[in-house]
Amino acid sequence: TETRTLAVIGGDGIGPEVTAEALKALTAVAGPDAFDFVHYDLGAERWQRTGEVLPDSVLEELKTVDAIVLGAVGAAPGSKAIPSGLLERGLLLKLRFAFDHAINLRPSKLYPGVPTPLAPRIVDGKSVDFVVVREGTEGLYCGNGGAVRVGTPHELATEVSVNTAYGVERVVRDAYRRAQSRRGQLTLLHKHNVLVNAGSLWNRIFTEVGEEFPDVERRYLHIDAAMIAMVVDPAQFDVIVTDNLFGDIVTDLAAAVTGGIGLAASANINPSGEFPSMFEPVHGSAPDIAGQGIADPTAAISSMALLLDHLGRPELAARIDEAVSADIADRGAERFRTTEIGDRIAARLA
Ligand code: NAD
Ligand code: IPM
Ligand code: MN
Repeated sequence: TETRTLAVIGGDGIGPEVTAEALKALTAVAGPDAFDFVHYDLGAERWQRTGEVLPDSVLEELKTVDAIVLGAVGAAPGSKAIPSGLLERGLLLKLRFAFDHAINLRPSKLYPGVPTPLAPRIVDGKSVDFVVVREGTEGLYCGNGGAVRVGTPHELATEVSVNTAYGVERVVRDAYRRAQSRRGQLTLLHKHNVLVNAGSLWNRIFTEVGEEFPDVERRYLHIDAAMIAMVVDPAQFDVIVTDNLFGDIVTDLAAAVTGGIGLAASANINPSGEFPSMFEPVHGSAPDIAGQGIADPTAAISSMALLLDHLGRPELAARIDEAVSADIADRGAERFRTTEIGDRIAARLA
């Protein structure tokens, strides 16, 4: 098989630390010749040095790779040196929008032996294994809005959520297909009791497309009630579909109840295949633990399983999942360093 080219953006904080372990796993499972890694030094340091966040020339180059591996970007919340959201919007969201990453896939699975804040009666003997299909290119993330009279007592700020029938339909259809190949249940999370315009669009398309999937049971939950459901009985979910911001929030909670943010993987998929898809942990740059060598690289490693699946190597993806699951079971209560976890998983894969 031919060598594939991967763009690697380690980014900021723990991003480069966990990404190194992800590439280690990828090389261990696929062999040294399967991938060429092209590293890009994008992130806070590059911006501080050159004023560049994502030069157009780099964006053009990225278009040509087979997939993108991202660590994380962003400064500590409250940082004075780097404006809030500069890198997140200028790099991460820019890539999701430019490369039409409409399907933001975020699986959650409670592996055996993983500590969870949930009570034993909620998880014992149950399979908590669901996937959130988050819309990735619309909603409140479009930067539509503005502020007037800034800094005065009469300041007015708006953020307008963009929802198109095209965008909603393709993510809903993708979610139905995934439900069909899993346990046959799809839940829409929204807030159509309040967000009447976007809510009725989502609800209508969810129902209409659902007619084409009679074998999939469809459910609707208001997003607030869904937060309760995810904590008191997360085993009830199979596939969840929701908009960009609700999906961002629900996937951090999903991560927390299934062993923590250090385990949560994600894929930003371009459904047409015209542009490279991007694979990254759900977590951020974790400035509070950066540089200490203690970040959990498991999420970044599991994201490589999603990448392999996407690039048509499901058998290698399954091996990463098995190695991750076995390693987690083996860890017990012991705490390991970033490179130790990476080495243990790579050793299982080699
Ligand atoms: P965060 O995910 O970086 O950290 C939240 C908490 O989880 C912290 O206590 C952190 O130490 C812990 N944590 C995160 N990843 C971990 C790991 N692999 N192992 C162990 N613990 C881990 O979220 P935040 O603190 O809200 O954001 C920090 C910065 O990252 C911000 O600038 C934010 O905008 C950015 N961010 C980037 C991405 C991304 O690039 N995809 C995602 C989320 C946040
Ligand atoms: C995520 C992050 C991003 C998001 C931020 C950093 C822009 O929180 O990937 O979950 O909100 O999508
Ligand atoms: Mn998030």
